[in-house]
Amino acid sequence: MNEGLCADIKLANDFQPDMMRIVRKYNLTDDVRFFQVRPMEEQKALTLCYNPGQFMMVSRLGVGEAPFSISSTPSRPGLLEFCIREVGQVTQSIFRLNENDSIGVRGPYGNGFPMERLKGRDLVITMGGLGAAPLRSLILYALDNRDDFGEIYLLHGAKKPGEMLFKTEFFDMIERKDVNTMLTVDADDTGKWPAKVGLVTTLFKDIKQIDPANTFAAICGPPVMYKFVIQELLKLKIPKNQILLSLERRMKCGIGKCGHCVVKHIYTCMDGPVFSYWDVINMKELIY
Ligand SMILES: Cc1cc2nc3c(=O)[nH]c(=O)nc-3n(C[C@H](O)[C@H](O)[C@H](O)COP(=O)(O)OP(=O)(O)OC[C@H]3O[C@@H](n4cnc5c(N)ncnc54)[C@H](O)[C@@H]3O)c2cc1C
Ligand code: FES
Repeated sequence: MNEGLCADIKLANDFQPDMMRIVRKYNLTDDVRFFQVRPMEEQKALTLCYNPGQFMMVSRLGVGEAPFSISSTPSRPGLLEFCIREVGQVTQSIFRLNENDSIGVRGPYGNGFPMERLKGRDLVITMGGLGAAPLRSLILYALDNRDDFGEIYLLHGAKKPGEMLFKTEFFDMIERKDVNTMLTVDADDTGKWPAKVGLVTTLFKDIKQIDPANTFAAICGPPVMYKFVIQELLKLKIPKNQILLSLERRMKCGIGKCGHCVVKHIYTCMDGPVFSYWDVINMKELIY
């Protein structure tokens, strides 16, 4: 169930993409590119509403479409942002586009984070690799509405410095006194990395001021990360139903029609992509 900011919004046509214009693009890493897009029609831009953690289906006419997490925050309206890794046909085709080119976008889909339940809570947000894509939306939203949240911890890991998404933004956050930002890389191949070196789990020992019963954790990253991060969060005594996992599964339609994303009785496109650890604790194929 969508417990988010736009729970009441109904899409006019679930399958109809809106044409949007690319207003900004740049490389985040060697193979991940940032795209900022804006609806062609002003009215659509004004009514664009989504929840951190939701995704959109992005399409290229004659090529295909694929799901991508929304990286922007609904607190800065009128625009959508995506970080896209070039892996196959659709993403290669998107990579060939330039600013001012148009692109199809339908959605938003999925549940996203339960923003109403997160209000007033401490947050521990852990991300690795492309996991920064959906969590950036939650982070920017929390920072734009800073008084609505308690302590905020951001733990961000990458394999090496060149692979950290939104590096400049996160180094800027280190300067802020109202958020605890910790960055680490598995290995520093530059010799100039100014933050920590080690797995993202090594950052947990520096979490000091949370009230576990009043804390929500959010995780997104490569599959191997979940098990070890969950162990750290349980050591901190954060309740299992307050550990939120953003999970990816292969999707086709995004709206519960094709069955591609089904695991047991769960449609990850509609019931997810955000699940609590408690909800999926017995579904190893979903988490690990
Ligand atoms: C909810 C959701 C959010 C996503 N958000 C992002 C995002 O923010 N940025 C981003 O770059 N990608 C994201 N993805 C993944 C993206 O949708 C896929 O990489 C997509 O298939 C790329 O399409 P393509 O045609 O370029 O490559 P394809 O031809 O579909 O695939 C290329 C390669 O990737 C593999 N692959 C594709 N999808 C998956 C998958 N889900 N799991 C495991 N292997 C896969 C294929 O087997 C193949 O080897 C998300 C996926 C989901 C379900
Ligand atoms: S992607 Fe089609 S049912 Fe989930």
